[in-house]
Amino acid sequence: MSVDNLQQPSKQQQTSPLRIAVLVSGNGSNLQVLIDAMQAGALPINIVGVISNRDDAYAITRAQQTNIPVTVLSHTANGKRMAIKTFETHASAQFATWKPDLIVLAGFMRVLSAAFIDSTPAPMINLHPALLPAYKGMNTHQRAVQAGERYHGCSVHVVTVELDAGQVLTQAVLNVNAKDNADSLQTRVQVLEHQLLPWTILLLAKGVLPLNANDKLPDTISHLPILPLRLCLDN
Ligand code: GRF
Repeated sequence: MSVDNLQQPSKQQQTSPLRIAVLVSGNGSNLQVLIDAMQAGALPINIVGVISNRDDAYAITRAQQTNIPVTVLSHTANGKRMAIKTFETHASAQFATWKPDLIVLAGFMRVLSAAFIDSTPAPMINLHPALLPAYKGMNTHQRAVQAGERYHGCSVHVVTVELDAGQVLTQAVLNVNAKDNADSLQTRVQVLEHQLLPWTILLLAKGVLPLNANDKLPDTISHLPILPLRLCLDN
């Protein structure tokens, strides 16, 4: 394989920062990693807005401290649950304003509808705390411990209508120790998440990984090893 065969990033990807909208529900430590990398000039991104579905998420404070626009679409207000359709209508309006190139679900805990996923104006990726396709859904660390897994980790995948089932782009792997429990695994996997998410976004921003979720990944990058790319860290 010659270097000449490598797909060149588009001019847009080479010159303008990737416009990113981030959806969050909690602490926002992954959002913070992206903010820090953006501010350090380590990632060619512009976080154009953050949406939280919880009004008590610390991620909101993190965004506000950096003057990133935040929209809070609380899943409960006055004791009433906000219907997902209402959330999605407001989120779509924000996307129309922010014009993101990429939507990142970073600890976002609501399940989105098929209609919304199919109509987002930009590709959407999710950070999942397990080595997909193993352990889709919730309580991944507990289930991995109970199953006696030797390896565990996290994945970044394209969001599709089927939950946690879209193309896996990248993964980070760790060895499960005999002493690990769900809490220790959560802590150790988060260390990996904080490395995997910015690396994945860098690969997307540089055009190494295809940004358009509709691209047939194997055709687009047929000259590269089959996905996911795995980041192996000794921690
Ligand atoms: C992460 O562990 C992610 O895998 C899970 O939620 C957590 C979010 O963490 N889905 P934070 O809000 O980014 O700190």
